[in-house]
Amino acid sequence: MSETNALKGAGRDRRAKGSGTADLDAIAKAHAIYTPLSLPFYDIAVHGLSNRFAWKCPTPKLVELYRRHLSRNHLEAAVGTGLFLDRAGRAFDRLVLLDINTNCLETAAGRLGRFSPECRRTNLLSPEPLDLRPFDSVGLTYVLHCLPGYMSEKLVAVDHLRPSMADGATLFGATILGRDIRPNAPARALLRAYNRRGVFNNLEDDLGALREGLESRFAHVEIAQHGLVALFSAS
Ligand SMILES: C[S@@+](CC[C@H](N)C(=O)[O-])C[C@H]1O[C@@H](n2cnc3c(N)ncnc32)[C@H](O)[C@@H]1O
Repeated sequence: MSETNALKGAGRDRRAKGSGTADLDAIAKAHAIYTPLSLPFYDIAVHGLSNRFAWKCPTPKLVELYRRHLSRNHLEAAVGTGLFLDRAGRAFDRLVLLDINTNCLETAAGRLGRFSPECRRTNLLSPEPLDLRPFDSVGLTYVLHCLPGYMSEKLVAVDHLRPSMADGATLFGATILGRDIRPNAPARALLRAYNRRGVFNNLEDDLGALREGLESRFAHVEIAQHGLVALFSAS
């Protein structure tokens, strides 16, 4: 059995239950882990340890992506703790932080207070329009692998962000792949545990589906894979 197939049992039960359409329970499970107790450990667990030792994409690679694509008029979707905006060394005329989880919004807004960010609590999978003045850049990092459903369903999130992109704006970010990958032992253990808990829903996510979904929406798409992580930009 391939390494990827061995992981599949973790996601099979959940997938068997439904039609593949994201249900509210799955959406809630994907962000329930971000609490006031866990968030102080998020940066060290994810960006300090997992990126380097499990996902094999060291955090400086992601910071570099932010430095390349951030504009002064930026929307950060699924902001988490706001680490990338904090570390990128850029300034903003307008910064909006979006997340479904108020703990994340509060944490990131506090950390990024020097940019006077505006916060928006939103479910990226909800069809409700964002109704925001257009941005020149939109960040979407480490959330696609959390969202329930197949890649085609997850990319509904991008459809909700697109009306908030100005002409020529760039959408960029990263996601951890769960299929057609060669995970090491720590990565396998984390993928299995996170998918069992519904924190990740990425066992069907591969590079091809991401590329196809982005190329069907944008004229210019760049994707690079580092370890298990796909880094993308699209405009
Ligand atoms: C793994 S964290 C990534 C945080 C940050 N982008 C980073 O890379 O450190 C996933 C983030 O996505 C948010 N999130 C999960 N599901 C969401 C949804 N349906 N809509 C909006 N945000 C969501 C979580 O609350 C959390 O902030």
